[in-house]
Amino acid sequence: MNPRLRTPLLENLVLESPLMPASGTYGAALEGKEFGNLKGLGAIVTKTVTPKPRDGNPPPRLAETPCGMLNSIGLENPGLDRYLAEVLPRALELGPPVILNVGGESLEEFEWSVERVQESGVVALEINLSCPNVQGGALPFSTDPDACLAIASSLCTRSDLPLFFKLSPNTHLLTEVAQAAVAGGAKGLTLINTLLGMAIDWRGARPRIAKGVAGLSGPAIKPVAIRCIYQVRQVVQVPILGVGGIQNAEDICEFLAAGATAVQVGTQHFRDPLAAVHLARDLGELCYREDLCVEDLQNCLLRDRQSINGN
Ligand code: FUM
Repeated sequence: MNPRLRTPLLENLVLESPLMPASGTYGAALEGKEFGNLKGLGAIVTKTVTPKPRDGNPPPRLAETPCGMLNSIGLENPGLDRYLAEVLPRALELGPPVILNVGGESLEEFEWSVERVQESGVVALEINLSCPNVQGGALPFSTDPDACLAIASSLCTRSDLPLFFKLSPNTHLLTEVAQAAVAGGAKGLTLINTLLGMAIDWRGARPRIAKGVAGLSGPAIKPVAIRCIYQVRQVVQVPILGVGGIQNAEDICEFLAAGATAVQVGTQHFRDPLAAVHLARDLGELCYREDLCVEDLQNCLLRDRQSINGN
């Protein structure tokens, strides 16, 4: 382990590095291994798994945009029972700790999933409250603080595993929603999911994504992610997993400075399937050159401001 990258995440969980793949950009967590060694990853985050199997949305489901990508996969997955029996055991053998991302259409579906995975061997759950490509894009739990408090309270009382709630930037109430998740017992937050976006093939008079509206990710959304993390960090103390457009080690430093505890790499995996592994190496080199460690960087914007202001 590179001591400069050591990343305490939770009371009993210290990661080898702050790098992890963002949910859905690593398939079922096994594909990354086909491209090489996963050494350096702090954790693996799985694609969202739902109680019942889902075929996902009709194609086309992906479209490239300037500085990013639109997706509307629609949470395609084999369903929780099959995932637990056939996929997760192999993911757990890969080495890095596994964070299982679970989703659902209703409170009851989330509750069922959380109870079902308690003995699965993962270190934490990421609760996907923010997929813009299901439930007609309504984001019911991620835009209304009361609804978020209700689901967080219910899930946290059902779980011995720490729960991270993945929230949406598609609301003006993000800080209130984040506080509600923490009040309900969240041990951490993941910020941010994709922004609502759309692209049109005007010659063909059709949207580039079959469903029309989709989720925008990639470098185009990085400033939005930084802003969201910075604002939420000022109102919550729990760990934040920062995600949104990370391409290089400098970007990671920016996320940590804004208040992220660790980071997830998403769209960059479509260029380099081992992006998160390579970025762990690059961050280690940057930290060595600058004589820094991850803990120096975490939250340094707010921390240094407070010391400047004498607080
Ligand atoms: O459509 C999708 O599967 C995307 C999921 C997400 O953004 O959480």
